[in-house]
Amino acid sequence: MPNVIIANLQSKTIHCEDKRESLLDILLSATDWMHACGGKGRCTSCKARILTGSEHLSGKTRPEDQYAKLNKLRSDERLTCQTYISGDVTVEVPKETQLPHLNYSE
Ligand code: FES
Repeated sequence: MPNVIIANLQSKTIHCEDKRESLLDILLSATDWMHACGGKGRCTSCKARILTGSEHLSGKTRPEDQYAKLNKLRSDERLTCQTYISGDVTVEVPKETQLPHLNYSE
């Protein structure tokens, strides 16, 4: 089963048990992760920067395309609630969505 590594959170590694879970659900199984709209694709607070493994991600969804057009989602970022993985992925928490009680590295 694939692994998700959060590079700027002490390289925390999460073993994905069920590929039917969204990337957000996988992340939430091991850490706190912002998700203001509850995973409905109506905000960008759940976004992650993809460092490696983008080839293992599901295709971009309509909300992601719309936020990209509004410059609220960079080309290397994905909404984790809209994304499913099929292999190992390394992500980073963008500065603007980091939570104050967690200790991120640069
Ligand atoms: S939690 Fe709002 S878009 Fe993912």
